[in-house]
Amino acid sequence: MKKLRFAIIGCGRISYKHVEALINNKEEAILVATCDVDKEKAESKASEYIKGMNTPVNVGIYVDYKEMLEKEDIDVVAIATESGYHPEITIHCMNKGKHAIVEKPMALSIEDADAMIKCARENNVKLCISHQNRFNEPIQKLREAVDSGRFGRLINGTARILWNRNMGYYTQAPWRGTWELDGGTLMNQCIHNIDLLQWMMGGEIDTVYAQCDTFLRDIEAEDFGAIIIRFKNGSIGIIEGTACVYPKNLEETLSIFGETGTVSIGGLAVNKIENWRFADGKDSEEEILKEQGEDPDSVYGFGHTALYKDVLDAINNDRQPLINGEAGKIGMSIILAAYKSRLTGMPVKFPLENFSTMDMVNVDKLHK
Ligand SMILES: NC(=O)c1ccc[n+]([C@@H]2O[C@H](COP(=O)([O-])OP(=O)(O)OC[C@H]3O[C@@H](n4cnc5c(N)ncnc54)[C@H](O)[C@@H]3O)[C@@H](O)[C@H]2O)c1
Repeated sequence: MKKLRFAIIGCGRISYKHVEALINNKEEAILVATCDVDKEKAESKASEYIKGMNTPVNVGIYVDYKEMLEKEDIDVVAIATESGYHPEITIHCMNKGKHAIVEKPMALSIEDADAMIKCARENNVKLCISHQNRFNEPIQKLREAVDSGRFGRLINGTARILWNRNMGYYTQAPWRGTWELDGGTLMNQCIHNIDLLQWMMGGEIDTVYAQCDTFLRDIEAEDFGAIIIRFKNGSIGIIEGTACVYPKNLEETLSIFGETGTVSIGGLAVNKIENWRFADGKDSEEEILKEQGEDPDSVYGFGHTALYKDVLDAINNDRQPLINGEAGKIGMSIILAAYKSRLTGMPVKFPLENFSTMDMVNVDKLHK
């Protein structure tokens, strides 16, 4: 089988996970170009890949992604720039016939997310959003338990993201915490667990209510958010997300409660089963807890490698990737609805239409 040819656009903090995923999928994928407006970053990303491959490979270096697309033979682009730039870059690449893996959040407005989904469809290319924790083994196992009805009636689910992002994190890259390019801790950090929660609870949302504020960090958007989701199946989701935990990350936990089952998964990046209790007695909690794999060494977890594998398989077999544009849109829509709820003080009914983080620019003025 011909190896698919990849390029990475945006060679910052998370891009090493894309390099790692390409190296781990080297039988089916090859990196042919890197691009960053900062040339040194593009160069160092290419070197990282070449070193990891341990064999001579040619990787083109670019500062302009449009030029890169003209000059290189590329099948798939991985887009890991600041979130606010995702839609424009992704749409340009898909219009050139490239498949796209886009970092989360896919976009910062409903309009942009819809345009990306439409563009992928029109160009018959795959669009995948990096919610890599869906591929964590315990999460896949939990999803199987939900699908096979082991929980009985779903009652509630809780996503807790109790982390610390200090001012150094925000000053290191000034786009972070801005309404134009990022959003707050809900949109940047909590979106992974919010995506998992909605995936387990059935994905169809009735209303979203939120209270958010900026307590400690000198940023535009929130550093704390509490959200309540009512799902169409009647179950309730509760989210507690913060960047303010003193003095360091405390936990990221997803808990699902049903009539006949209770599961909670924690660890650094929702990789560790903490409780696994079902009325059907099909497996023992003790055994499940004993059999677990290792915890990752970073909050980014292990999922990018499996996500790349899924995209490669989706392209080779012409099917949708697990986290396509429609799937990626749900988590960001919940957060946009939470922002709208913060603005109006009211629950927000789904579907949410035409809302953007930019609608939040004057939030402070409104409340003062
Ligand atoms: N999946 C995850 O777990 C995870 C973790 C961290 C960040 N992210 C997401 O990844 C994205 C990047 O985050 P980061 O922390 O790596 O940011 P970063 O600021 O470290 O890196 C972004 C890079 O993109 C480059 N860039 C900007 N415009 C460009 C353009 N037009 N062409 C080429 N390069 C361009 C910048 O120069 C910078 O090097 C964000 O959307 C973020 O939300 C995802």
